[in-house]
Amino acid sequence: MNLALRVNGRTIHADVEPETMLVDVLREHAGLTGPRVTCGVGLCGTCTVLMDEQPVSACILMAPLAQGTEITTIEGIPEDDAVVRCFDRHHAFQCGFCIPGMVLTGRAMVAEGHAADREEIREGLGGNLCRCGCYLKIIDAIEEAAQ
Ligand code: FES
Ligand code: FES
Repeated sequence: MNLALRVNGRTIHADVEPETMLVDVLREHAGLTGPRVTCGVGLCGTCTVLMDEQPVSACILMAPLAQGTEITTIEGIPEDDAVVRCFDRHHAFQCGFCIPGMVLTGRAMVAEGHAADREEIREGLGGNLCRCGCYLKIIDAIEEAAQ
């Protein structure tokens, strides 16, 4: 099927099977490699993108379901974004594999007022795993961005 998706403010077209996952369209047809496939079953958050400003796991979302929405990947976030600057200031990363998803989820939490305290931030990050153990610095960064 022919797919038309709004991604980072532009329209991308792809000829794909209906069951193609959104992350595969983004990576293979749009060249957006920020969303990464790690678990592939919706558990780790490395494939997180925003769909109409809400974090979703692009590895388990069939791409046709994203038509008519606005998708944002980490490539669509400006470098001077407040959350990005806080991650930078707190050195909230090691390998960086999880960081695109962490930043996008963090932005959504801050935008919705769901980063009031460290406990709420911890809960909000429940679907985003970091193998390097950067959680404390990631929470520091989101906490500061929410202030
Ligand atoms: S790769 Fe999508 S949640 Fe893990
Ligand atoms: S910084 Fe390495 S997985 Fe999070």
